[in-house]
Amino acid sequence: MAMLRSCATPPTPRRGARFLKLKAGFLIYSFVMTTTGSQLLRTLGNSDLQLTPIGFGAWAIGGGDWTYAWGHQDDSESIAAIHRALDLGINWIDTAAVYGLGHSEVVVARALKGVSHKPYVFTKCSLRWGSDRSIYNSLKAASVAEELEASLRRLGVETIDLYQVHWPNPESEIEEGWEALARLREQGKIRWIGVSNFNVEQMKRAMKIAPITSLQPPYSMLRRAIETEILPFTLANGIGVINYSPMLSGMLTGKMTAERVAAMPPDDWRRKAPEFNEPKLSRNLRLVEELREIGNGHGVSPGVVAVAWTLHHPAVTAAIVGGRSTRQVEETAQALHFRLSDEEYARINAYLASNYA
Ligand SMILES: NC(=O)c1ccc[n+]([C@@H]2O[C@H](COP(=O)([O-])OP(=O)(O)OC[C@H]3O[C@@H](n4cnc5c(N)ncnc54)[C@H](OP(=O)(O)O)[C@@H]3O)[C@@H](O)[C@H]2O)c1
Repeated sequence: MAMLRSCATPPTPRRGARFLKLKAGFLIYSFVMTTTGSQLLRTLGNSDLQLTPIGFGAWAIGGGDWTYAWGHQDDSESIAAIHRALDLGINWIDTAAVYGLGHSEVVVARALKGVSHKPYVFTKCSLRWGSDRSIYNSLKAASVAEELEASLRRLGVETIDLYQVHWPNPESEIEEGWEALARLREQGKIRWIGVSNFNVEQMKRAMKIAPITSLQPPYSMLRRAIETEILPFTLANGIGVINYSPMLSGMLTGKMTAERVAAMPPDDWRRKAPEFNEPKLSRNLRLVEELREIGNGHGVSPGVVAVAWTLHHPAVTAAIVGGRSTRQVEETAQALHFRLSDEEYARINAYLASNYA
């Protein structure tokens, strides 16, 4: 069984082949990536994991036909997207057992087969599913152990770089589940352990049992709740933060329109999400135009500006950015390098304060 090796530096793109294949502008971008890549890395919490500022988010590539699906997804397109992400220097992937009910992990494993310079692979437990495909929560020790074995098998690895509790549910089982993760780590099946969607109180409960390497919370300019208590707490306690949905699941990319939402397939969860429907939709699309104006000055998309806005917070280690195609990944990978100036950051915050207060 191939064991995923963690990378200390991002992979080096093959410049010769790329020169023949890609446009001049993209070539220059790749060259910049290669020469500056090693300076980008950020340490995740108390671990030895050295992360690039963005990772590849593998939720949408879980495919269609389950409760939180994003509609149909072609596996070969997902694999090409992962390969492009690695070529561009991204050195970690975030997935979860529940994404596509195991399918995302299978696709990640297929993509990484034969790849010489492996990225870190992070996955999650606690959301399980039954034979009728309905999802339920469990943090029972036996359930966590069973989930870990299934993820190791699907991913084709002997160790998971970061194993995270997906949701703190059922709340009464937090201690049992976290203790199970700590024990499995001692057995060498997990390198580091983290939590997701935990509040401060829940993190304190877990920390009595074992240190938390990282928190995975939702964070974008339209979901700022964690700024008040959670981010100050992680910063004060040396807990790394890898934020999810930095572009609000596609809303802030610059490619979302009312027509697109209306045409989404029935199994795209966003069809019914409040942020993708009126009265919020129009207001969100106006925000995107503000981001587009800032991005235009730098040749980057509104989505890249949105990701950079999250990375501006000192408590954020790195952002998880979802991608479904090579084209999407090529565009958002610019967030590896693009940073907002303090003035631009303040301009966005002022816009948010006057339009979203
Ligand atoms: N722990 C948790 O509870 C939790 C929850 C949510 C997410 N996550 C993690 O965080 C990752 C990222 O979050 P997310 O996927 O919700 O949101 P996101 O990164 O904010 O948005 C990703 C989506 O935006 C669209 N997109 C990406 N690049 C684009 C581009 N260049 N142009 C146009 N559209 C583009 C794609 O969807 P379309 O093309 O379909 O629009 C893509 O799936 C997930 O994959 C997952 O790993 C974790």
